[in-house]
Amino acid sequence: MYDTIFKSATTVVDGEVVVRDVGVTSGRIEKIGTMEKESARREVPCEGRLLMPGAIDMHAHLREPGGTHKEDISSGTAAAVAAGVTTVLDMPNTNPPTTTVSALREKTAIAGRTAHCRIGFFMALTARNVDQLEQAASIPGFAGVKVYLGSTTGNILLTDVDPLETALARVPALFAFHAELESVLQRHKDDVALPDARSHHVLRPPEAVTEGTRLVLEHASRPGLRLHLCHVSTAGELEVLDDTPTASEVTCEVTPHHLRFTHEDAARLDNRIKVNPPVQGKADRKALRAALADGRIQAVATDHAPHTLEEKNRPYPSAPSGVPGLDIMVPWVLRLVQEGKLTIQRAFEVLCSNPARIAGMDDRGRIEEGLDADLALWDLDSTWKVERSDINSRCGWSPFEGDTLAARPLGVWVQGERRV
Ligand code: NCD
Ligand code: ZN
Ligand code: ZN
Ligand code: ZN
Repeated sequence: MYDTIFKSATTVVDGEVVVRDVGVTSGRIEKIGTMEKESARREVPCEGRLLMPGAIDMHAHLREPGGTHKEDISSGTAAAVAAGVTTVLDMPNTNPPTTTVSALREKTAIAGRTAHCRIGFFMALTARNVDQLEQAASIPGFAGVKVYLGSTTGNILLTDVDPLETALARVPALFAFHAELESVLQRHKDDVALPDARSHHVLRPPEAVTEGTRLVLEHASRPGLRLHLCHVSTAGELEVLDDTPTASEVTCEVTPHHLRFTHEDAARLDNRIKVNPPVQGKADRKALRAALADGRIQAVATDHAPHTLEEKNRPYPSAPSGVPGLDIMVPWVLRLVQEGKLTIQRAFEVLCSNPARIAGMDDRGRIEEGLDADLALWDLDSTWKVERSDINSRCGWSPFEGDTLAARPLGVWVQGERRV
């Protein structure tokens, strides 16, 4: 007797698109096959529909504590689940920042009471907290170490490589980098006389991320290290990654907004597309899309960075950087599948199995017997025109308003329990 049988679902098993029945018991995928006689408490008819693992968003800013007027762990994870994301990794640039074991424990405690999906927490590396990170590495809920090589929203910054080298030697964890390099940002900060959203990409030029990526790769010198580049945004970073042999495991992610927009969209979206690193030119966007399709980029992550419209409507210098993305990530990627630009297998990899592997979560991310039943059911024949009123994130808007994406999921299960 299964708890749930998903009947005749189209899915991906061992890299192949197949139609299967999937039996779930006690929150796990127990059997994949053809189930004629088996019984279940519930049956979910899935004919003609896509059964996908819940997506894993490696990069989100849920703003709790300190910024809960624009998001909190409850509202952010609710928006995630409604859009097919069942694991979210939260970033440490909250207030207070997540730089100590006690700040981490405060977040895991809040999440235990309020999260609607599974969640993990990055901690930031500072010049003085390597001992805290060492302790945190064995605490459940710790996701990895975040390193800010350039200043962005939240102002956690590391300009000295000594603490990085110490941390890499002592903390057994995934290290994720915001790779815009502060010295390059400083060099260009006065390059435009009267800057506005349309010149954001000039003040934070591609050189900032290519230089930062080079610095990261200089530390990728031994096996056993796991280094991850957040939100790649330029053709130049991909070239540096292609050209630099590394002994360590090096991975990278791309956001929906860097795949969708260029700096030309700032004429229409103004500060709503002010984001770090900036959206760059058409050639960059094209290179990112190609690298996503061919595997040089391993993961899509949102960099969900909600700010209110009131904050975004301030004059350029005081409007915060960042765009929300949890509401649209999976529907955006599945739209590429609908358009024939990405295979179903590749969508499963970049949204589910690769982020699970990169973040060391071996209990999820694939349709496979024994793994946790984090699942979402999609109808690839229907679409969704994004409207502001559809957005579940507390910030209440999206730069993707007006776009046509794949329709949101028909059902979402977290460890076997139906949430949507
Ligand atoms: C992020 C934020 O608002 O927290 N902003 C952004 O522009 N991406 C911080 C970050 O990821 O750099
Ligand atoms: Zn960042
Ligand atoms: Zn320069
Ligand atoms: Zn971010």
